[in-house]
Amino acid sequence: MAMTANSHCIQLSDGRRMPLIGLGTYADPQKTPKGTCYKAVKLAIEIGYRHIDGALLYNNENEVGQAIRESVAEGKVKREDIYYCGKLWNTFQSPELVRPALEKTLKDLQLDYVDLYIIELPMAFKPGDTLYPKDENGKHIYHKTDLCATWEALEACVDAGLTRSIGVSNFNHRQLELIMNKPGLKYKPVSNQIECHPYFTQPKLLEYCREKKIVIVGYSPLGTSREFWVNLTNPPLLEDPLLTSIAKKYDKTTAQVALRFNIQRGVVVIPKSFNPDRIKENFQVFDFSLSDEEMNAIEGLNKNIRYVELLINYGELEKVTKKISYNPHKLQIYPSIIQPAIS
Ligand code: A2P
Repeated sequence: MAMTANSHCIQLSDGRRMPLIGLGTYADPQKTPKGTCYKAVKLAIEIGYRHIDGALLYNNENEVGQAIRESVAEGKVKREDIYYCGKLWNTFQSPELVRPALEKTLKDLQLDYVDLYIIELPMAFKPGDTLYPKDENGKHIYHKTDLCATWEALEACVDAGLTRSIGVSNFNHRQLELIMNKPGLKYKPVSNQIECHPYFTQPKLLEYCREKKIVIVGYSPLGTSREFWVNLTNPPLLEDPLLTSIAKKYDKTTAQVALRFNIQRGVVVIPKSFNPDRIKENFQVFDFSLSDEEMNAIEGLNKNIRYVELLINYGELEKVTKKISYNPHKLQIYPSIIQPAIS
């Protein structure tokens, strides 16, 4: 795969193409001053990023949209050169809520379409205005979900021209199979966005997705921001001695080596940064390449650990859906049901 700063797309199964590096835009809204995301996206586009990853849940799609629209208006880029991914949140999985949720995203962005719309998690919360509905005991209120019906509503959004492609996130292979084997499937998921980095290389899910021509988009490719929602008992990825020594050899940073590792094996990365120097740094991954030995050695760092262990109680969930597969042997510290390793 020839990859350059100007040309680094991966082919999707529906004939479209996705840039291998995108800017992640999640940041804690409480701690992030208004306008920060706008500036980051504006700068990223100037630097050469053509892929922006966002979500209604991040509460900043208006800033992302403003940055994209301004960049287009200033003639820096054409809309069709930008790849924007939006996400369907858990409270909008009922089929009749899918299109309104995407329309809300488009209204905030002030764009006519998104390039990719994905189901953010393979489970639903109680529909309504509260994004994290909880009962009087503080437990999440789940909702019966039929992922296939949700998928059909996403397919209708493609037909309506609201999104170019559709995909999923945090799906394990069984949840993917559910969609892939759906009778009357009109559009296949083009991608599955999952946590993916040298400490969580996802070999089995990657192999399955390669077979099915589903592109893996790796979130937290740098090992996250290590905030309260992260399992901090896991060692910091960017301090890894092997990544550090490889970085030294190429006069690069550990972050650049971690990103290069994934894009070199065809995994899309969406590092989040709102810091101008780091936004630039993360894009400078096209002027060096890792040898096969180095790729294998980095693959060998896999510890099967995830930083993002969404603290969702499997017992609660089991009552409302049987469609989630679960492998208790893969449990770390918290009972997480999200994308358990392929089982
Ligand atoms: P910041 O926004 O201040 O740059 P991930 O994408 O794995 O979730 O990681 C995001 C976190 O990593 C954010 O806290 C971000 O902070 C930080 N970060 C982004 N790029 C780099 C980099 N090149 N080196 C070190 N930290 C980085």
